[in-house]
Amino acid sequence: MKVVVTRALPPATLAPLADLGEVWVSPHDRPLTTDELRDAVPGANAIVSMLNDRIDESVLAAAGSQLQIVANTAVGYDNLDVGAIARHGATATNTPGVLVDATADLTMALLLDVTRRVSEGDRLVRSGQSWSWDIGFMVGSGLQRKQLGIVGMGHIGRAVAKRAAAFGVDIVYHARREQGDDIGRRVPLDELLATSDVVSLHCPLTAETRHLIDGPALNRMKAEAFLVNTARGPVVDENALAEALATGGIAGAALDVYEHEPDVHPGLRNLGNVVLAPHLGSATIETRTRMAELAVENVVGMLVGGGPITPIAVPSQ
Ligand code: DGY
Repeated sequence: MKVVVTRALPPATLAPLADLGEVWVSPHDRPLTTDELRDAVPGANAIVSMLNDRIDESVLAAAGSQLQIVANTAVGYDNLDVGAIARHGATATNTPGVLVDATADLTMALLLDVTRRVSEGDRLVRSGQSWSWDIGFMVGSGLQRKQLGIVGMGHIGRAVAKRAAAFGVDIVYHARREQGDDIGRRVPLDELLATSDVVSLHCPLTAETRHLIDGPALNRMKAEAFLVNTARGPVVDENALAEALATGGIAGAALDVYEHEPDVHPGLRNLGNVVLAPHLGSATIETRTRMAELAVENVVGMLVGGGPITPIAVPSQ
C-alpha cells in the first residue's frame, strides 16, 4: 500500500500508517504545487490531503485506479471534487466534530477583538504614539442585549450561539432547518443582515454560498454592525467588504479566512477597523492533533477494514 500525506503531520499521528507499506510525506514546509501533487500521487492507495490542496480530476487521474480514499484533514472540503472522487471509485472523508470548540472559541475571540478594538489598541500601544485614558478613548461596542446573527447553524454555529448567549447576546440564525430548541430565532437572511449587530458566518463554501455576503448583502447591514468570518473566505466578496469598511457601510470585520487565501485584499490590510487572523480556527494543539488522528483513522479504516469513520456524502447529481 502507498499513502501520500501532502503536508507534515505530527509524527505520532502517522504511526498507525507504518504497517500499511510506503508512507510518503511531503518534505516541503508549504503546500504542494499542483504539479508536485500530481507527481506525488501515482500508485497511491490513499491521499491524506490538507484544505489547501485542490484534489480534482487531474490529481485523481495521476493517482490511478487503485486510489481508495482521499482523507481531508479539515471539516471543510470545498477543496475536494467529491463527485469526481466518487466517480473514480474512491471515498472522500473529512474531520467533522473535532474542531467545533476550537473554532467557536476563536470566533468569540475575534468577535470580542473587533467590537472592543483589542488589536487596534495593541497596534497603537506598540507604535509608541502617545495616548491617555479619557471618557471617549477607543470606545468600542458592548455585546449585552445586542443581536448576533449566525449564518449556518451546524455544530460550530450552535457552539458559537451557546457561547454568545453567555455574554447576554440575543441570537437569530439563518439555516435550512429549524433547530427545534431555544437556541435562537430562525429568520430569513435579509432580516438577519438588516437587524443584527454582529453577523458571524458558519456555513460551508458551496456554489450557493460563494459571495453570499456581497455588496447588496453588506448594504443591508447596519452601519454600526460587524462581520465575523471563520468559515471560508469566498463566502464574502472581499472587494465589496473592503469598500463597505472603508466607506462606513459597516463598522468593522474580523476575518480568519480569505477569498484568495493566503493573500489578503490590500484594502483590508490597510484598515484599522479590521482584525485579520491567519486561518487559526482549529489551531489548538489538541484539536490539530485530533484532526490528524481522525484523517489517519479514516485511511486505516478504509485500507485495512471496518470502513472510513467520517465519509463525506456524495451530492446527488
Ligand atoms: C476546517 O477544518 O475546515 C478548518 O477550516 C480548519 O481550520
